[in-house]
Amino acid sequence: MLNEEAILNPRFKTVERLKHIKPSGIRRFFTLANKLPGAINLSVGEPDFCPPRRNLEAGWKAAEEGKTHYAPTNGIPELREALARKALGDYNLDYDPESEILVTSGATEALFLALFGLVDHADEILVPNPGFVLYEPSVRLADGIPISIPLLEKNDFKVSVENVMSLITNKSRAIVLNYPNNPTGAVLSYDETAALAKIAVERDLIVISDEVYERIIYDNSKHYCIAAFPGMRERTLVIGSFSKTYAMTGLRIGYVYGPKELVSNLWLVHQYTVACVNSLSQYVALDALKAPQGVVRDMVLEFDRRRHLVHKRLNGINGFHCALPKGAFYVFPKIKDFDLTSEEFAALLARKARVITVPGSSFGSYGEGYIRISYAAAYEQLEVALDRIEKVVKAL
Ligand SMILES: Cc1ncc(COP(=O)(O)O)c(C=O)c1O
Repeated sequence: MLNEEAILNPRFKTVERLKHIKPSGIRRFFTLANKLPGAINLSVGEPDFCPPRRNLEAGWKAAEEGKTHYAPTNGIPELREALARKALGDYNLDYDPESEILVTSGATEALFLALFGLVDHADEILVPNPGFVLYEPSVRLADGIPISIPLLEKNDFKVSVENVMSLITNKSRAIVLNYPNNPTGAVLSYDETAALAKIAVERDLIVISDEVYERIIYDNSKHYCIAAFPGMRERTLVIGSFSKTYAMTGLRIGYVYGPKELVSNLWLVHQYTVACVNSLSQYVALDALKAPQGVVRDMVLEFDRRRHLVHKRLNGINGFHCALPKGAFYVFPKIKDFDLTSEEFAALLARKARVITVPGSSFGSYGEGYIRISYAAAYEQLEVALDRIEKVVKAL
């Protein structure tokens, strides 16, 4: 539509910067869910839980106290101080709340700021493929060149040291890591994280570590924050979010930890894009950090139950090959046996089973042959969805 208008009326030409930017595959399939009556939506990456009432009341109380004005650009001091305590408690990382922590409008803004604040024309940025839909377009928008790091099932979808080494050139500026991983559910061990940290130091790379699923992790696995490894604090931006851990996707609260030299660049972009983050959401987030963390544990236990259900049921359907994810709330089963592209297969599931998933190709070329299913939906809904998928697939 836009392109036709552009041809007829040059005033509406597509700007150069947007020429290679396509709508996100998640959004495309997510929108489909609203158009198909009775569809079960397993495309979206958000917990079906709600934050505890006390968190929300903290926001309401702040409103009553008149805290509805512009907040400080880098976030309310109480939240930054609580985030500093969190980094110290969780990873023994000491960040100055004034200059090394920035509260952002979700991890989405934080990632955008990281790329806009640090990428120069034609800098090469290594991004996982398959990877979260935002990385590649954001690198392009920031005038950088995204370089795919293939995540292969035979390597449990982990970034391999050999691969990274072979992709580094004298134009490489940064590497984006995301563990626990979306879309594959992979998690890195201590040794694997240490090995990547070592390359980053040796090859002088900035690491943008998207750790929004740090708490959603199973089977006694542990999350290792890469900034805590030797030589890493000064070169790492740790990106976090309240969206997943505290089921607050709509409140749009994320944050960045990093050394002052890097965070100051992000701050510059932030002040001219959002000015400050929604003040009331920040009070809700603050309460989430202060409140007992049992709700998070209970939510993860429920995700774990669903994880086993989806994994077991899919592997019981001929043609699906599904690894057991170790973190986040997605499975990424291989669907190559069905002889359809992932786009065709996801469209078939939408049309015939009324179950909305996301084609693996939406996450990059190495996602082809897979689909992503989010199990952040009610157990009973997942059961119905899996029954429907099984019926459709058996009839193929
Ligand atoms: C890996 C990853 N990073 C970042 C985000 C964005 O999160 P937020 O809601 O905090 O913007 C998502 C959301 O799905 C995600 O999966």
